[in-house]
Amino acid sequence: MPWTMKPSLFWALLLFFILFLGAHSQIRPPKRRPKPGSKPKPTPRVPSPYRPGLEEPAEPTDLPPPLPPGPPSIFPDCPRECYCPPDFPSALYCDSRNLRKVPVIPSRIHYLYLQNNFITDLPIESFKNATGLRWVNLDNNRIRKIDQKVLEKLQSLVFLYMEKNQLQEVPMALPRNLEQLRLSQNQINKIPPGAFSKLENLVLLDLHHNKLSDGVFKPDTFQGLKNLMQLNLAHNILRKMPPKVPTAIHQLFLDSNNIENIPNGYFKGFPNLSFIRLNYNQLSDKGLPKNSFNISNLLVLHLSHNKLSNVPAINNRLEHLYLNNNEIQKINGTQICPNNLVAFHDFSSDLENVPHLRYLRLDGNQLKPPIPLDLMMCFRLLQSVII
Ligand SMILES: *[C@@H]1O[C@H](CO)[C@@H](O)[C@H](O)[C@H]1NC(C)=O
Ligand SMILES: *[C@@H]1O[C@H](CO)[C@@H](O)[C@H](O)[C@H]1NC(C)=O
Ligand SMILES: *[C@@H]1O[C@H](CO)[C@@H](O)[C@H](O)[C@H]1NC(C)=O
Ligand SMILES: *[C@@H]1O[C@H](CO)[C@@H](O)[C@H](O)[C@H]1NC(C)=O
Repeated sequence: MPWTMKPSLFWALLLFFILFLGAHSQIRPPKRRPKPGSKPKPTPRVPSPYRPGLEEPAEPTDLPPPLPPGPPSIFPDCPRECYCPPDFPSALYCDSRNLRKVPVIPSRIHYLYLQNNFITDLPIESFKNATGLRWVNLDNNRIRKIDQKVLEKLQSLVFLYMEKNQLQEVPMALPRNLEQLRLSQNQINKIPPGAFSKLENLVLLDLHHNKLSDGVFKPDTFQGLKNLMQLNLAHNILRKMPPKVPTAIHQLFLDSNNIENIPNGYFKGFPNLSFIRLNYNQLSDKGLPKNSFNISNLLVLHLSHNKLSNVPAINNRLEHLYLNNNEIQKINGTQICPNNLVAFHDFSSDLENVPHLRYLRLDGNQLKPPIPLDLMMCFRLLQSVII
């Protein structure tokens, strides 16, 4: 049924929108406000509200004009093009203002928001006094390179977000207190030697959607990353598994590469690895040694959209297994059961030994229902099987 609206209602709504948007671009309250003294949480990705005139222009020479300055701030050092929340003196909001240049950052600032602008570089003059910065968000700008001298100033930096820029390599001289480094959606095809070697506190390294190939990763590339828990290399052009991934790793994301095989015992060195994503690769049975994923702490394994024709061996503790869109023709529950199904019958009340698998996807293969009975006999905690 077509949707209609009374003309008067239409004009009232339009007026409301104009007033609302007008007010909105004048004073914008801080979107996220970490409490002073407490550790800020990583920025949630909230899409900024649609505002006419702010769309990405087709031509780089045709950038929209910077927004007019807001009302005067109670802080005399507050850059006119930014917003300084009166009750939160350590934060500076300069995001989504069509800025070309980084303003001079006052020394009191710890949290700096510069995302969604047209910034191309980080001038040393802007950061001269900004030695207290802990959290910088530069997502969605046009930065190609960072001057090493700027990074050397920022010794307190803990979070550096530079997603959606034009970097071609991982910046050198990253501050050694860094805990999160997000560089996804750039054009990175190079990691300079020693780029990560001092980052002992780094917990998260996100390099997805770049141009990383096998040759970029040397045996010492990740050396020094003693506390790295999450490594995201999805959407690159890898054909091999990266060498010498830090042993503390909990989550490894490698979706959408061209990985064909996994070296024998590759995952054995990671006692805490619990989450692997390898969807959309080129893995076949031939490239997968028998016990590749039979590792004790794995909870979630994603292997969809590969070329597997058999279900790989899994451990008792695995809870989620994604094998959809492979080339599996038949499945034998007795063979894939991590327990010996015959012996296991005698201990039917022994819940500790029951395989933990709860969710299994097998759709997009050459399998036909019904689900084999021995599969259900083995995986008694299964809540959902998609076939
Ligand atoms: C940096 O701080 C010094 C001392 O507080 C001050 O004199 C100077 O003007 C500041 N420089 C900038 C670029 O803000
Ligand atoms: C695995 O986690 C445990 C417990 O958090 C920790 O003590 C151990 O050092 C970790 N192992 C590695 C190789 O990081
Ligand atoms: C998986 O590993 C365990 C312990 O390392 C081993 O006992 C078991 O036989 C392996 N499963 C398969 C199917 O090889
Ligand atoms: C499954 O494998 C077991 C052990 O290898 C075998 O005894 C059984 O006949 C197989 N089941 C089917 C339906 O092929």
